[in-house]
Amino acid sequence: MTRTIKLSDGKSIPALGWGNGSGGLNGKNDPAVVAGVEALNAGLKHIDTAELYKTEKATAEAIEKTGVNRKDIWITTKNKKADPEAVRATVEERISFLGGKPDLLLIHNPFVIEEGKIGQYWTLLEDLVYDGTLEGVSLGVSNFRPQDLQDVLKVARIKPVVNQLEFHPYVLSHLEPVLAIHAQNGIRVEAYGPLTPLLRHPTGGPIKPILERISGRLEKEAGKPVDIANVLQLWTIQYGAVAVTTSTKPDNIKKLAEVDSLPDLTSEEVKEIEEAGKKIHFRHYKEHMTKDFPEPDLPSDL
Ligand SMILES: NC(=O)c1ccc[n+]([C@@H]2O[C@H](COP(=O)([O-])OP(=O)(O)OC[C@H]3O[C@@H](n4cnc5c(N)ncnc54)[C@H](OP(=O)(O)O)[C@@H]3O)[C@@H](O)[C@H]2O)c1
Repeated sequence: MTRTIKLSDGKSIPALGWGNGSGGLNGKNDPAVVAGVEALNAGLKHIDTAELYKTEKATAEAIEKTGVNRKDIWITTKNKKADPEAVRATVEERISFLGGKPDLLLIHNPFVIEEGKIGQYWTLLEDLVYDGTLEGVSLGVSNFRPQDLQDVLKVARIKPVVNQLEFHPYVLSHLEPVLAIHAQNGIRVEAYGPLTPLLRHPTGGPIKPILERISGRLEKEAGKPVDIANVLQLWTIQYGAVAVTTSTKPDNIKKLAEVDSLPDLTSEEVKEIEEAGKKIHFRHYKEHMTKDFPEPDLPSDL
């Protein structure tokens, strides 16, 4: 069974996304095809790509190579810099590179748009939905701070269904104002960098022992080893966010695909990870969500 998350436009998105914008795949077509084939053959149903990564053609090629039905795979892509006059051409290029429409199109970050033109850009994307170019495609944003979300929401006829962000327990306190806007407007988090607490924090921080204890419980229930990275992915999904992760290693890809069939965390476990995570602030992708968006006064290296 594929875990899915319901979006405000009624669509169900596969809750585990496999990205080809990191892990050494960014900008590399052939390795992205090879790893994409591995991910799809393992059973993953959602590929996260972007104009910026130059891996949209590799995404289409991987799908074709595996022979999986395109309709069974969810593709998220993202626009990079485009002046309002160039939005249509940019979108048409995404469709051409992917060999068809994506399922979800995001604005990669607020800085790809000239200052003061976020609302205008959003309106142009909506126009492409209404004129048929993007009919059936969900629209969303990425790395949008509260002020960027408000710029869109002021003019939106179609609200963004997701905001793709660095998201894990150690940014929960910082993101409180963003999450409040999401809650009011039915916007879901698509979490990138979800493994940051384990891979990039110097010690793993306060959630690591909790994840270890939970993996022990899940191992007994599932009757097989359960990686703590997979417990964190499960937490992300049960928190209500789409977990956009990646791997190029067949073993890790296989474990990732198996997250769908792991037993659930209890609601107490989900809460315990959340509460422990909120006590510190640690971000890996510092180019996003930092300018004009103050960080919380919390330790970062506990
Ligand atoms: N919108 C944006 O601005 C933005 C920014 C950044 C990323 N993204 C998207 O999000 C995707 C994922 O980002 P991310 O790389 O930061 O995600 P992540 O899930 O935090 O980290 C992925 C890394 O985790 C490692 N990994 C996977 N499974 C593991 C396991 N079981 N144990 C230990 N390590 C494991 C992988 O390395 P191995 O290959 O060694 O397994 C991989 O390099 C990107 O590819 C991209 O599509 C979007």
